[in-house]
Amino acid sequence: MTQDKTIKNDLLLKALRGENTERTPVWMMRQAGRYLPEYIKIREKYSFFQRCQTPELACEITLQPVDIIGVDAAILFSDILVVPQAMGLEVQLLEKQGPLLPNPIKTNADLNRVRVPNVEETLGYVFDAIKLIKQELNGRVPLIGFAGAPWTLLCYMVQGKGSKTFDEAKAFCYQNPQLAHQILQMITDTTIAYLKAQIAAGADTVQIFDSWGGLWSKGDFEIFSLQYIRQIVAALKDDAPVIIFAKGAWHSLGEMAQTGASGLGIDWCIEPQMAHTLAGGNITLQGNFDPAKLLSPIAEIKKETQKMLRAFGPNKHIANLGHGILPNVPVDHARAFVDTVKEFSFN
Ligand code: CP3
Repeated sequence: MTQDKTIKNDLLLKALRGENTERTPVWMMRQAGRYLPEYIKIREKYSFFQRCQTPELACEITLQPVDIIGVDAAILFSDILVVPQAMGLEVQLLEKQGPLLPNPIKTNADLNRVRVPNVEETLGYVFDAIKLIKQELNGRVPLIGFAGAPWTLLCYMVQGKGSKTFDEAKAFCYQNPQLAHQILQMITDTTIAYLKAQIAAGADTVQIFDSWGGLWSKGDFEIFSLQYIRQIVAALKDDAPVIIFAKGAWHSLGEMAQTGASGLGIDWCIEPQMAHTLAGGNITLQGNFDPAKLLSPIAEIKKETQKMLRAFGPNKHIANLGHGILPNVPVDHARAFVDTVKEFSFN
């Protein structure tokens, strides 16, 4: 099959280049997942990492929201925790409980168990999935690759499981900064190689998820997170546009804009106008619908989505949620959000 290399719907890439768009592009964080009955069917047959590691399954799941909801971009089906796994740690995903790393990093001696891996050997299945997805998409919409930010990955590698505060991971950084920085640098080096290979395999843009960036003060965010994100963006920005989503880290939007990223994700706790000002007024913003609001009646979702679009204004905006879609969102509510963006006109 000869593949058409041009992307027919390139609204997302235009927005990331800062170009004017005929309308605002839209996708949803965590759009390939548990709120879709078609996904649940696949989940019944295969374990989580089977789904990630089998390119045909990852491809099918990645394409589901493009076909079913009509979003303007696909995001690779995988998980941020495949990186700690490739670095040598055991990662489990427990039904209804989330991630578990049974042997987290606690001391200097634990460093012997982690390494900067050869990504082609350990994560080759991701690149195979990307190649297959690109072929199946056949230029319909762009494909977003992704990785976790070093700090967010360290949270799981040290705490060993999910948490609202990641207090053990933060204590680790304060009590053993030298070891923390050593690990953060190892994750950074792995992530640069990993994302470069995702782009080489066909990802049109990549997003860095710093889901726990908002747990730090501005000063400590720079020390334990942003300085590593900055290295990743610097290494990638000439290969593909980079989006940084550091949830809750609104205080550092200006510094994040200075990294050379093409887009910044924001959550619903900051007003679009305020985010524009803090980010320096020029960079494309992505967000920021409260995912819980997708549980409102459809008429309300439409009204609130239109309000969000007006607050961002035309151009340099990628409509999205302010965090991942919740598993209990009805499919027609997700579709109402996406359709409202697609039908909206500023005139
Ligand atoms: O966006 C997409 O649809 C692509 C796939 C994707 C997954 N995880 C699949 C997944 C992406 C981009 C992620 C990112 C991710 N994973 C983040 C950053 C984004 C965020 O939401 O903050 C984080 C912190 C993780 C770690 C993780 N993986 C957790 C905390 C959990 C359990 C709870 C949850 O949020 O779902 C996972 C499991 C996971 N990753 C599922 C999916 C679809 C659910 C498990 C299942 O379907 O059986």
